[in-house]
Amino acid sequence: MYSLEIEGGCSLFGEIDISGSKNSALPLIASTILAKNKICISNVPDVADIKTLIRLLTMLGGEASFSENTLYIDTSNLSKTKAVYDIVRTMRASILVLAPLLARFGYCEVSLPGGCAIGSRPVDLHLKALQKMGAEITIEEGYIKAKAPKGLLGTEITFKKKTVTGTENIVMAASLAQGTTILKNCATEPEVMQLCEVLQSAGVEIEGIGTETLKIVGSCGKLLNFPDIEVIPDRIEAGTYLCVGAITNSEITINRVNPNHLSSVLEKFQEMGFRLDTQTNSITIFPNYNIQPVQIVTAEYPLFPTDMQAQFVALATQANGISQVEERLFENRFMHVNELQRLGAKIEIEKNRVYIYGKSNLNGADVMATDLRASSALVLAGLVARGKTKVHRIYHLDRGYEKLEEKLTALGAKVRRVQN
Ligand code: EPZ
Repeated sequence: MYSLEIEGGCSLFGEIDISGSKNSALPLIASTILAKNKICISNVPDVADIKTLIRLLTMLGGEASFSENTLYIDTSNLSKTKAVYDIVRTMRASILVLAPLLARFGYCEVSLPGGCAIGSRPVDLHLKALQKMGAEITIEEGYIKAKAPKGLLGTEITFKKKTVTGTENIVMAASLAQGTTILKNCATEPEVMQLCEVLQSAGVEIEGIGTETLKIVGSCGKLLNFPDIEVIPDRIEAGTYLCVGAITNSEITINRVNPNHLSSVLEKFQEMGFRLDTQTNSITIFPNYNIQPVQIVTAEYPLFPTDMQAQFVALATQANGISQVEERLFENRFMHVNELQRLGAKIEIEKNRVYIYGKSNLNGADVMATDLRASSALVLAGLVARGKTKVHRIYHLDRGYEKLEEKLTALGAKVRRVQN
């Protein structure tokens, strides 16, 4: 097991490049199951979740080579249709192979992902939608067994709740279905948009990309001819590094970003009194010696993303006043609060809301990472805490933040990875 040791209190300066989006690369890699050609995907972040999904596809018979952030993947010899528990339990987004496998082979078994630190994470909306498309679905010994021997049928589906990977799964199912599928109440995250754009370039007729209603004309089971793909920038990594600048009162620039993908986050920085210089593909944040408290409610895109909630709770500990953050998407996404309190943060939890009393002087301590974004909040707090903070179980961070120490060190932070 590794930990990250952070010497807090340094002010930082400089610029870093943001990596490709993990949450766009994952559905794109899963969608290659629908391809008849070998595909080149560039700007793929070299993080654990990506390697896990690549491992799953090779276990199913796919061929892949991944280096220098470029992934070549060929699924023409894909033959197996069982996504085993050992893989799926380590990375819930493996559920994204369910619809493509079912659409292509008419049968598949995918382990139920189970819950994770932030919540129960059900997949009922994925399964109900596939059943509406004609799939027979049973749950046996912890596995989703899905059958559609005659292929999936286009139909009209309204998601009861907006679901990112649910929308992505059903868009992939509809792409190979017989007939037209109308999907309503879709998630509209940039990652969903990119998947739709790639499938459209692969020959699937899709209308309404970027809106809550998608009309998809299926290929009747014919595999698709994919274009080369470049993964969009990771908007959550971008927001996290802007928090690095904000919490240490530093001037830092992040490059290779799309500012339009994080408008709601930029608005919150401005509400807290931070000045931002936003260019086409870069954003600079400047020091702010009187951070204002903030009110945040997490919601579906384009509103404030739940994946930035933990980072802003950490930042709010340095605001002069009482901030309030409400988590509306997940039932247990405040695991970072207890750890922040160990560093001296004054935070109260009331059901799905937290009140952060700032400004509190934080002092370094040992803290425990519990999930990907909570661990980034602990790193942020460690950067401003006096003395040394040791973040344990940083395999959580390695799931979604590429070259974390290198990027932080490049900005002048004193961080190092140590083996426990
Ligand atoms: C995606 O997860 C992201 N993961 C998550 O990012 C992100 O936090 C989440 O969307 C919300 O934005 C990937 O894209 C790989 P949902 P997903 O289905 O698709 C409920 C990270 O840090 N729901 O949009 O699993 C669900 O419980 C990760 O990178 C059902 O009830 O999230 C939640 O309350 C963490 N039934 C809400 O919908 C279902 O069948 C939104 O979940 C599906 C979801």
